[in-house]
Amino acid sequence: GLTADAAEKEKEILNVAHRGASGYAPEHTLMSYKMGEQMHGDYIEVDLQMTKDGELIAMHDETLDRTTNGTGQVKDYTLEEIKELDAGSWFNEKYPEKAKTEYEGLKVPTLEEVFQTFGKNANYYIETKSPEVYPGMEEKLAEMVDEYGINKDTLLVQSFSSASLLKMNEIDPSMKLVQLMWYTSPAAISDAEVEAIKQYAVGIGPNSAMIDKAYVQKTVQNGLEIHPYTVNEKEEMQKLIEWGVTGIFTNFPDLLNEVKKGR
Ligand code: G3P
Ligand code: CA
Repeated sequence: GLTADAAEKEKEILNVAHRGASGYAPEHTLMSYKMGEQMHGDYIEVDLQMTKDGELIAMHDETLDRTTNGTGQVKDYTLEEIKELDAGSWFNEKYPEKAKTEYEGLKVPTLEEVFQTFGKNANYYIETKSPEVYPGMEEKLAEMVDEYGINKDTLLVQSFSSASLLKMNEIDPSMKLVQLMWYTSPAAISDAEVEAIKQYAVGIGPNSAMIDKAYVQKTVQNGLEIHPYTVNEKEEMQKLIEWGVTGIFTNFPDLLNEVKKGR
């Protein structure tokens, strides 16, 4: 059994609904995000791309091909053109056992629509994707956050690009930032890296498969949050919690809550 302290800590582990409850519904649709809320995810994860006419949309890939019936680069299409696409049917075709007719014809949401739908007090975990492809992305994000009065105490902005995070920090030093990391072999993090990241970020997000207990503990002991991605198996969630992670990105927020409750 857990001590009272450990049990209390475990409840605080952030449950980040990765692309929404994307294990159950087409990623980055309002329906997927709503399902994430219904499953008591603590955060809605939103990846950003930018249209030809400078609108921020929720999409993982730089291209339309995988998650819509369109083809080609997001940056070559206007929002009006992207709004004609079907962002749900691909899911039904790829996962027939999870298919639902209500997913057919779902639209690609703009960041604005996400803010309008979930409000200023929802917890957003927003990633600037391919910022080198989209000049002005950080400024636009900061404008939208201010326009919609999004609560910055709980807002997290993440990126693999430290340049993008540094830009974000310059535009609005009150934004809480998370440095994403991608490792292709067993990972270690140096004191110098920890110190450099602490200058602008509150935490790091490494891919889960390459980290170990020492990595997690070094990060946490240095006062950084650590939110590994993307963890969809209960055994792996349990292991990471035992190592002391402070949050987890998952496509199955319901499973993480079961683990947190010891089920
Ligand atoms: O943002 C955490 C994780 O989502 C990073 O990987 O490719 O799923 O955006 P990706
Ligand atoms: Ca992401």
